[in-house]
Amino acid sequence: MLQPTLKKLKIRQTSILSIIVTIVITTACTADSSTALGTTIIDPATPGSQSYELGQTVYNMQCATCHGANGEGQFPDAPLEKDLTGRYGAPPHDETGHTWHHDDDLLVQIIKEGGMGDPVNFYVMPALDSVLSDAEVEAVIAYIKTMWTPEQVATQQERTRLVREQNSPG
Ligand code: HEC
Repeated sequence: MLQPTLKKLKIRQTSILSIIVTIVITTACTADSSTALGTTIIDPATPGSQSYELGQTVYNMQCATCHGANGEGQFPDAPLEKDLTGRYGAPPHDETGHTWHHDDDLLVQIIKEGGMGDPVNFYVMPALDSVLSDAEVEAVIAYIKTMWTPEQVATQQERTRLVREQNSPG
């Protein structure tokens, strides 16, 4: 009578173990995607909030030297002109700039993988993937969005929605 009981116990142990393993794996995956980059549409940060503080810190430390302390760009007097070296500087991110024309996923891509300008005609936008976490990338985008008009925010969010719809299978 002892044998079958032991066997049952063993089976039960194995299945409990596999349930635990499944839970751990599922939790790990959920935790990974909880940064939500690429799934939610980023809202402008609320001044005073934690995400605003984080975005502002990241911006000041990693972006401001090139894009300007207030998002005014590298050459605020003539952002659309090449300088003496024959290159365009870092563009403004504020409401005078072009950044709000890009959907969230493209902004994430540019920040993580670097700019798309050629080095002959443009100063270089570095890839910051190894420097910033997903949460920091999201926060800095949320911070930049506070530099846009409400209309620009709405247009950019709608664009993000449309681009995702077009790219989603089915
Ligand atoms: C060393 C200078 C430099 C730093 C630092 C830098 N950028 Fe840039 N960035 C550029 C330049 C130059 C361009 C334009 C050329 C290009 O896109 O390749 C650019 C382009 C961009 C664009 C595309 C804008 C548009 O209107 O098309 C985004 C978005 C951007 N940067 C975001 C950031 C963010 C966010 C940070 C900080 C986390 C940052 N950059 C840090 C130089 C920089």
